[in-house]
Amino acid sequence: MPRFSVLLSVLIPVLAVFWACRAFLPAFDLVLSFPLSWPLAVHPDQQNAQQTHDDAHSAQRPLDFTAQHRPEAPLAPSEPAGAAADHVDGQFMRTIVAVGDLHGDLPNAQRVLQMANVVDADGNWSGGVDFFVQTGDIIDRGDDTIKLYFWMDQLRAQAKAVGGTVLTHLGNHEWMNAIGDWRYVHASEIKTFGSVAARQKMLSTGRIGRSWAANYTTTSRLPLHPSLGPPNTDYDPTTDDAASASALSHAAISFVHGGLAPTYPDLTPFPSRINALATSLLHKLQYRAQQPPPHPPNPYPGLPHDTTPAEQRMTGADGPLWYRGWALEPEAKVCKEVDDVLRRTGTRRMVMGHTPDFEQIVSRCGGKIIIIDTGISHAYGGALSALSVTYTLTPISRNADAAQQKWIEKEVVKAVYVDREDLLASDEREVVGDFS
Ligand SMILES: *[C@@H]1O[C@H](CO)[C@@H](O)[C@H](O)[C@H]1NC(C)=O
Ligand SMILES: *[C@@H]1O[C@H](CO)[C@@H](O)[C@H](O)[C@H]1NC(C)=O
Repeated sequence: MPRFSVLLSVLIPVLAVFWACRAFLPAFDLVLSFPLSWPLAVHPDQQNAQQTHDDAHSAQRPLDFTAQHRPEAPLAPSEPAGAAADHVDGQFMRTIVAVGDLHGDLPNAQRVLQMANVVDADGNWSGGVDFFVQTGDIIDRGDDTIKLYFWMDQLRAQAKAVGGTVLTHLGNHEWMNAIGDWRYVHASEIKTFGSVAARQKMLSTGRIGRSWAANYTTTSRLPLHPSLGPPNTDYDPTTDDAASASALSHAAISFVHGGLAPTYPDLTPFPSRINALATSLLHKLQYRAQQPPPHPPNPYPGLPHDTTPAEQRMTGADGPLWYRGWALEPEAKVCKEVDDVLRRTGTRRMVMGHTPDFEQIVSRCGGKIIIIDTGISHAYGGALSALSVTYTLTPISRNADAAQQKWIEKEVVKAVYVDREDLLASDEREVVGDFS
């Protein structure tokens, strides 16, 4: 009997703490349910300390206050961009679809892109949207690495031929593989390349590695209106004074895998500063005299000896590949910090993957922060999802003086799922200027 009560006196507090963690710290569930990957530059213990610290401050789940759940609404496929542009005389329309982490699962990736009207039933570019954006982590945890990257190249070419654009990004897992950190590579996936050496070659100076260097960026800035220039037109807050700024100056969205942290020093000019660091470091990694034997079982190879401090910081915990603050920090904190990062990057919203919510796309601070990793790969069995943004600029009534023309500017942001669409934001305002 005494032994039984000793057992109880230990068990009850342990269960109580466990219950309290599950009830009040949603991130605890996340940590329980799957291993979040961590950068090896950060010692795992340090990462755990950071995680615990984050948890202690995030008693509030990243709730989506703006979503309107409309399960009864039929899924209306977006209309072809060209046709829709003619609906209102003089109206400009741009449609963007963004998809998060795909992790080696071609069939689920195809389902998602077809659902979001990016591709047709054969997996070819449908012409139904203007931009398709993928926020990185195509590789690891599944076997379809080669097929997925080849498909992205095919879509990029097909889109370009009809005036569409594909923007693809390198996630922390692409970077890990480039470094030689193969902790999340399946043995069966290596077989699809033939051998370790063949895989190293293909990801460095071979077809996939060359496409990463030429066609993938680490972050991007996508203007919503052509008057702001093509994708990845730089924004520099130090040269954009209020007097010269266009009414549309921040009408753009940033895309990145992890997040653009408020503490990260290389946001300006955006996005070229980050992408230049990435291009330089990727080149150093891909053209090492010899690709290092992959970790594990071999030791973590680390970054090349000529890596600069800024390049190293780019791959660190508050860098664009790994940062989880926008997903895990409490609402009050992120909503206080987000405006300054948007101001500095010349954007209205930040879209990122990396930190999954297995049920839904997470919208925070009224859609200023959108986290689109829903564990699409069968490795997670999360939700098939895509983010859809429709931007319109509609003239109110024709003004003879083009500079005095009034327009209604509107952004409709939706999360698209197999069985429903959720409205995440619908922002409208009047602007004046010559945007025709
Ligand atoms: C899809 O694309 C492939 C490769 O470009 C092409 O061979 C095929 O004819 C296309 N299918 C359709 C239905 O357009
Ligand atoms: C970049 O993408 C284009 C279009 O998809 C493709 O044809 C090209 O081969 C890619 N570049 C490299 C260096 O792989």
